[in-house]
Amino acid sequence: MHISVLLKESIDSLQIKEDGIYVDCTLGYGGHSSEILKRIKRGYLFAFDQDQEAITFSQEKLSQIGTNFTIIKSNFVNLKEKLAELGVTEVDGILFDLGVSSPQLDEKERGFSYHYDAKLDMRMDQESNFSAYDVVNSYSEKELARIIYQYGEEKYASSIARNIVASRSVRPIETTLELVEIIKKSMPEKAKRDKHPARKTFQAIRIEVNHELDILESSIKDAASYLKVGGILSVITFHSLEDRIVKNVFKGLTEVDALVKGLPNIPSNYLPNYELVFSKAITPSSEELEKNNRSRSSKLRSLKRIR
Ligand SMILES: C[S@@+](CC[C@H](N)C(=O)[O-])C[C@H]1O[C@@H](n2cnc3c(N)ncnc32)[C@H](O)[C@@H]1O
Repeated sequence: MHISVLLKESIDSLQIKEDGIYVDCTLGYGGHSSEILKRIKRGYLFAFDQDQEAITFSQEKLSQIGTNFTIIKSNFVNLKEKLAELGVTEVDGILFDLGVSSPQLDEKERGFSYHYDAKLDMRMDQESNFSAYDVVNSYSEKELARIIYQYGEEKYASSIARNIVASRSVRPIETTLELVEIIKKSMPEKAKRDKHPARKTFQAIRIEVNHELDILESSIKDAASYLKVGGILSVITFHSLEDRIVKNVFKGLTEVDALVKGLPNIPSNYLPNYELVFSKAITPSSEELEKNNRSRSSKLRSLKRIR
């Protein structure tokens, strides 16, 4: 089961209009999309996901609520192109709830989890031909160390990369638990006490397999450009790397152009087209944290188009 994170806060942030057009870029198990659909009796919802299992489940779930929606099986990096193909030129609200869903993590065959033994996979899009197996068995030691350090913020990245390369020179690394063992032996005992030793490396490989950070900045900018005046873009992130990208894009879009900053009368074409809906990111309430551990690192940021 997937429990939607920051559900009330993110739906409220969109200030939904009954006849509005909305886009959920990360449909998943339809938690947020259902709440949007219930509020737009005369409007329309477009929902993206790249995971066929999530789409099949949510198609059925949303059909119980209404027929005014279309699910698009695509990476949200194609948002502009896909919406243009459908004749949509601007929308009232867009939501991103980034990362993986609980069913993706919990289905052991998908290879996202360091708790179960499975083939190294971690693809959100099951049709993609690039998986964790390829990253682990074909990247150079330098590339492995870089992604594990950058995307996992893992202190022992160099040692893990070295041991991956040594191990695969004997035979390919096929499974999640083989990788977990290599990670464990690359760290001192004290580093393994608090949290699972493979947590950061698995996060890094998952981000690389799904190009999660490479596409985020352009996707957020494209989404902002698709808003009507008065439209709102809300983004839920789950780790500091994602949040930093969203925060910086929002900062760039809401700041006065440096050329004219400080002038007494700023020409209107130099004023920003967007403003922040809340000055600081929203985080989960203590009730939510108690009920859903997955929400612990989540943050919600929202942006409104004002001109
Ligand atoms: C955290 S879950 C969304 C959960 C959903 N909001 C709910 O309440 O059920 C993220 C979903 O977004 C999808 N996803 C992640 N990155 C994507 C991308 N770049 N393009 C399309 N779908 C993506 C994943 O496959 C996953 O199903």
